[in-house]
Amino acid sequence: VSPPAEGRIAIVGAGSIGVAWAVVFAQAEMNVVLHDPDVARLEAAGPEIQVRLRNLQEGGLLKSDVTAVAARIITEVRLDEAVRNVTHVQECAPEDLGLKRTLFARLDSLTPPTVTLASSSSAIVCSAFASDLAGRSRCLVIHPGNPPYLLSVAEVVPAPFTSAETVDRANALLRAAGVYPAQVAVEVEGFVFNRLQGALLREAYCLVRDGVVSAQDLDRIVKDGVGLRWSVIGPFATAELNTRGGLEAHAVRMGPAYARMGAERGQNDPWPTDLVQRVAKEIQENLPPEHWEANVQRRDQAIMRVKMARSSAGLAG
Ligand SMILES: NC(=O)c1ccc[n+]([C@@H]2O[C@H](COP(=O)([O-])OP(=O)(O)OC[C@H]3O[C@@H](n4cnc5c(N)ncnc54)[C@H](O)[C@@H]3O)[C@@H](O)[C@H]2O)c1
Repeated sequence: VSPPAEGRIAIVGAGSIGVAWAVVFAQAEMNVVLHDPDVARLEAAGPEIQVRLRNLQEGGLLKSDVTAVAARIITEVRLDEAVRNVTHVQECAPEDLGLKRTLFARLDSLTPPTVTLASSSSAIVCSAFASDLAGRSRCLVIHPGNPPYLLSVAEVVPAPFTSAETVDRANALLRAAGVYPAQVAVEVEGFVFNRLQGALLREAYCLVRDGVVSAQDLDRIVKDGVGLRWSVIGPFATAELNTRGGLEAHAVRMGPAYARMGAERGQNDPWPTDLVQRVAKEIQENLPPEHWEANVQRRDQAIMRVKMARSSAGLAG
């Protein structure tokens, strides 16, 4: 077996996520082979890539020109050809356990053990489809946010059998592609991204079902309220900066009300003091309490800039 050519990536499945990953890797000057068993899909992928790249260029987010980036992406309908001489396979086939199991068995037999086999799976953990493979130590999940060429964070989720070297290589690849690799330490269904989305969406459906709010006003509250703020700071940093005294004061003041709301939905996950202190300690590494007022101002300035960008994009609503 010849050694893998440095930096060549195979993308297996050329749907929304496969096309988007191709754009991410190609704009970072990596060569990409895009595979799909559906010839019509592969043919449609080329023009789609052009559109995505042109939009990124218009937004000032492309380092080189569209033609140069697009030229780094080739399509291949044969899986064995697509994964020849690659260092990394990013699987983007449908979210179907049986399909991912069969596909990973094929990928394991088609590629040398030095090749990383990553799944873009949204919710299915790697242990569910790669446990029985001889090469399971080079398998893991790299779950992107959609669209990956704009949401520059992906979840790196190893199985217990994934080697540390595989995780290191995945992290390095993502960093080189301009994507922040968020580490998910334990395999839980839906990982972190979709658990967070799920928590909000479950509550949103309950509120509309119970006649508390219209679907449109709910979306508005997220878009112009919690979501606008979350576009510049996360929920923990929000609690830290919303309350004088930070997260610990927030937990004392708001914890009981949040516990009652959780109980209403059959959830019983209180916030014990040691947990709150652990979170506060971590969050305050970036937001020291002695600079609380300055950090509040930085938050406000960041929200202002997002609001200005949104109004110039015609999305202020
Ligand atoms: N859409 C999202 O928001 C999103 C976000 C993150 C992750 N994901 C995950 O990424 C994966 C792909 O999702 P998508 O939204 O791009 O789906 P999609 O339906 O748009 O694309 C799937 C592609 O896989 C192809 N395919 C079918 N069988 C295949 C096989 N055996 N080998 C290779 N390709 C095959 C299909 O022809 C299709 O083009 C899923 O696991 C999904 O959960 C999706």
